[in-house]
Amino acid sequence: MRKKIVVGNWKMNNNFQEAEELISTIADDLDEKEIVCEVVICPPSLYLEMASDYAEESVLFIAAQNVSSFDNGAYTGEISASMLSEMEISYCIVGHSERRKYFNETDSQLAEKVNRLLDNNIKPIFCIGEQLDERENGFQFDVVRNQMQKGLFHLNSDEFLNITVAYEPVWAIGTGVVATPNQAQEMHSYIRGLISEKYNDSTAEETTILYGGSCNSDNASILFSNKDVDGGLIGGASLKADEFVKIVMSC
Ligand code: 13P
Repeated sequence: MRKKIVVGNWKMNNNFQEAEELISTIADDLDEKEIVCEVVICPPSLYLEMASDYAEESVLFIAAQNVSSFDNGAYTGEISASMLSEMEISYCIVGHSERRKYFNETDSQLAEKVNRLLDNNIKPIFCIGEQLDERENGFQFDVVRNQMQKGLFHLNSDEFLNITVAYEPVWAIGTGVVATPNQAQEMHSYIRGLISEKYNDSTAEETTILYGGSCNSDNASILFSNKDVDGGLIGGASLKADEFVKIVMSC
């Protein structure tokens, strides 16, 4: 059976002390509970080591928010996948819409990032999703198919088993406008169909597909109850321990 996962993407928020308090509160709260999903925290890079130390003694896994598409060398400001793997990082987000938009990350760079991560045994959480105008014009499936093909479908089926897909409609990110359960289920089922077409049914059945975009403790359980929604990629609501723990418990 495929894994259910709830991921907290902290983005560029919190100072060191706040980050430490947040992760320790989440770890303590979850340690007292019976949870059925994997819980992943994505702090800013500078806090990865601290977070990784907390994770070692808890149920938490740690993810990076970004990685270089290059191996190692003269790339000022970059962090390589091999550096992340030295810090026991389990996952890394790739292709978040904020990186596509503000940092002009291209599909071919994203495919290279996926390759660097897999070379270093780190599992990519690959983000896809359409803009509002693309949905309004009925192109949402074309956009998502194109992102899957260019970013992931160069992998063979064994490699693909390490991928978690996150469907994050751009119009839902940080807006308070959440996809309806039907919109989420429809797209997740479409994505699973693409994976089945490209690889096979069992690879598609094994792939965890997360929903992200204005997910909170009020809407998480209805979203997660959809057959093809295997958890969430949570932004704003992952910055409050009690709210994030409630979302985890909805999974
Ligand atoms: P919000 O949950 O704040 O909408 O952000 C979603 C997101 O971008 C997670 O990666």
